[in-house]
Amino acid sequence: MAQAFDGLIRSAGKEVRAGATANLLVVASDSALASSLRFFLSARSAFVSGQVVRIGPPVGPSEPVDPPLSGRVAVVTGAARGIGEAIAETLHRDGATIVAVDVPAAGDALARVANRTGGTALQLDITAPDASERLLAHLRERHGRVDVVVHNAGITRDKLLANMDADRWNAVLAVNLRSQLAINGALLGDATLLGTSARIVCISSMSGIAGNRGQTNYAASKAGVIGMVRALAPRFAERGATINAVAPGFIETAMTAKMPLATREAGRRVSSLRQGGLPVDVAEAVGWLAQSASAGVTGQVVRVDGQNMLGA
Ligand SMILES: NC(=O)c1ccc[n+]([C@@H]2O[C@H](COP(=O)([O-])OP(=O)(O)OC[C@H]3O[C@@H](n4cnc5c(N)ncnc54)[C@H](O)[C@@H]3O)[C@@H](O)[C@H]2O)c1
Repeated sequence: MAQAFDGLIRSAGKEVRAGATANLLVVASDSALASSLRFFLSARSAFVSGQVVRIGPPVGPSEPVDPPLSGRVAVVTGAARGIGEAIAETLHRDGATIVAVDVPAAGDALARVANRTGGTALQLDITAPDASERLLAHLRERHGRVDVVVHNAGITRDKLLANMDADRWNAVLAVNLRSQLAINGALLGDATLLGTSARIVCISSMSGIAGNRGQTNYAASKAGVIGMVRALAPRFAERGATINAVAPGFIETAMTAKMPLATREAGRRVSSLRQGGLPVDVAEAVGWLAQSASAGVTGQVVRVDGQNMLGA
């Protein structure tokens, strides 16, 4: 019977008009709901529709505070521009101290984001062999802790599978998946750095759910992120922490601006909301999951894609 609501809500999402959305929260009797209701009943979830989110008992201490991230230290990778920049700004608005991470080549833009958000900048290629070590050392020395890690940095190197070369394959897997695995492993292996009620949010993609022509490498990496989130949820729960994936659909950024015009226009229109999303739409979903109060949401994938028809 409960499963029937899945079909009902997903269909309702396709029927409602004028920018309305429909989502289903499946709630355990002892779960804390406030942060999820605030997100889904506000304009912050404007580009989230047709989603089913399970809210279980809290995995650890949940301390509702106002603003919801005050006192928390949040790492955002790929923070120099696009979705990462919007995530840094949104988490800062909600009270977090930001550790903005990006490649040295993006140093100027990164410094601007760190200054605007009153945090620290760390120039780091997250695929470097000592990247986790350097990140953890920065956190220990400059902040003494970490409460939120947003694995946002990502790249595309598109080619049809028949023409895919090892360099494109390896580069995409290294940035989008292996770096996240390495940093998460290092966090779990450190006994003291993770604050109580830590939150890990991994940026996946609709391509990792639906697949996409010319993106076998990218889709493999992003599907791998979802697998990682499911596999690591019980390990992080042992530390009172959650880990979730946010899977954006078509979002207007420098990454999607590189697409051919027709593909870009099709990407925008093939959703219930019939438009692309904005970086802030992804950032608001991250902001909801990053709260201590969202302790009952873990091991899940939330699409921020206007209920894209692909892979739904
Ligand atoms: N834009 C979209 O429509 C869309 C859709 C689905 C998923 N995503 C995902 O969202 C995330 C952000 O995408 P975006 O559109 O803002 O991309 P973007 O290219 O605008 O920004 C990505 C940032 O990551 C940084 N980065 C890349 N490699 C790095 C490395 N090795 N070490 C440190 N930083 C590195 C870049 O310098 C850049 O600042 C990515 O993971 C992307 O795959 C985007």
